[in-house]
Amino acid sequence: MPTHTQTYTWLVTGTSRGIGLEIVKLLVASPVNTVFAACRNPSSATSLKTLKYAATTKGTLHLIKMDVTDEASVQQARDEVEDILDGQGLDYLFNNAGVAVKDDRPSTMNADDLTSTILANVVGPALVTRTFIPLIERSQRKVIANVSTALASIGTDYGPQHLSYSISKIALNMLTYKQVKERPDLCAVLVDPGWVKTDMGGSAATLEASESAAGMVRVVIGVTPEDTGKFIDYTGKEIPW
Ligand SMILES: NC(=O)c1ccc[n+]([C@@H]2O[C@H](COP(=O)([O-])OP(=O)(O)OC[C@H]3O[C@@H](n4cnc5c(N)ncnc54)[C@H](OP(=O)(O)O)[C@@H]3O)[C@@H](O)[C@H]2O)c1
Repeated sequence: MPTHTQTYTWLVTGTSRGIGLEIVKLLVASPVNTVFAACRNPSSATSLKTLKYAATTKGTLHLIKMDVTDEASVQQARDEVEDILDGQGLDYLFNNAGVAVKDDRPSTMNADDLTSTILANVVGPALVTRTFIPLIERSQRKVIANVSTALASIGTDYGPQHLSYSISKIALNMLTYKQVKERPDLCAVLVDPGWVKTDMGGSAATLEASESAAGMVRVVIGVTPEDTGKFIDYTGKEIPW
């Protein structure tokens, strides 16, 4: 009897380090996954490159060069992924790449920090999703996971700090809302990784990147069409908008 195993295709952005790297590590440990790991500089992404030949890697890993803020780079990445997919669809898009400036507030913010944060955290995922939609449309799953943060929850009081970052992620939440309104046939969700020990989260954070990545992947794999538009944390708990 022939065995038929379902396989899945993933694009993850911002995979040179931190949570993105851990998501890729986890996904490629399974033979059912083909992962497009996008990063700005694949040549210097040492940990990511090592994964390609690691004994734990059972799936397929493709390193893709992509700066999410650069439209030409996003387009070039899409062409590359489309060629490799050869007619197959993209099942999961993980918009993980992001930046955070050090703690700023209404009284200390500056225009450059706010602008560059919005560029990376909002314009980036907006461009990536728009550009990859034709590949997502060819899949059965059609899942878009936008990595947000509890700091973007107006319904939770986090005080005046992290101004640029919070504004940018609230705008990402609104982007997701608009994506859901325009394309209810896709499944777009917001995922909060928790407070994670990475360059961004710092060493005082409560979660290891591997733990957060495992939770987010579990949540994203479990997403159903009924979940579209939800803001969910890495444990699967809904977060107030
Ligand atoms: N850590 C936390 O506690 C925490 C909490 C809530 C939400 N998040 C979110 O989780 C995601 C991952 O964060 P992290 O903690 O893993 O951060 P990180 O360790 O600082 O890593 C950020 C990743 O994003 C990439 N990146 C930044 N700008 C990019 C661009 N223009 N194009 C492509 N890649 C770009 C970086 O690539 P380079 O190496 O090229 O710079 C790096 O791979 C972010 O969206 C962040 O906002 C994190």
